[in-house]
Amino acid sequence: MKKELIELRVNGRLHELAVEPNAVLLDVLRQELQLTGSKRACDDSSCGACTVLLDGVAMMSCTMLAISCEGQEITTIEGVSEHGSLAAIQKAYGDWGGAQCGFCTPGFIMTVKSLLAENPDPSEADVRAALSSNLCRCTGYNQMYDAIRSAIKAEREGSAVTK
Ligand code: FES
Ligand code: FES
Repeated sequence: MKKELIELRVNGRLHELAVEPNAVLLDVLRQELQLTGSKRACDDSSCGACTVLLDGVAMMSCTMLAISCEGQEITTIEGVSEHGSLAAIQKAYGDWGGAQCGFCTPGFIMTVKSLLAENPDPSEADVRAALSSNLCRCTGYNQMYDAIRSAIKAEREGSAVTK
């Protein structure tokens, strides 16, 4: 298939790329840009492992054409840390043991980032609704939700994440 030249802005950097028209964003991120934090699991928008932000909104990159993302700001888990330091949600995951194998973690964190950008003070129901499309096979979810609650509290109060 003939490749098309596109420009993608990812984590603040503009990349010119030759991609097949049917290339999905997840493949371009992982294979062309070596941004392997976004994961492939279900490959059909069912698990959330591939979640990235498009203009701040959580989207599943496994079923999104890369060419449709031109002109949007794409953020991956590699772009979440702030000035070289872990973001609150990343630190909270570490403190609370929110990850086991970690395969689902980037997708969860990107969804939480999207939720907080839209609603800085979400209720428990808001959090659970936002994360309803992200699946985890390991943790049983409890420590993960503890981490998320802790990060939300820290961001709301402008304080450090504490356990
Ligand atoms: S790999 Fe994209 S939603 Fe599961
Ligand atoms: S920590 Fe393993 S799938 Fe979630």
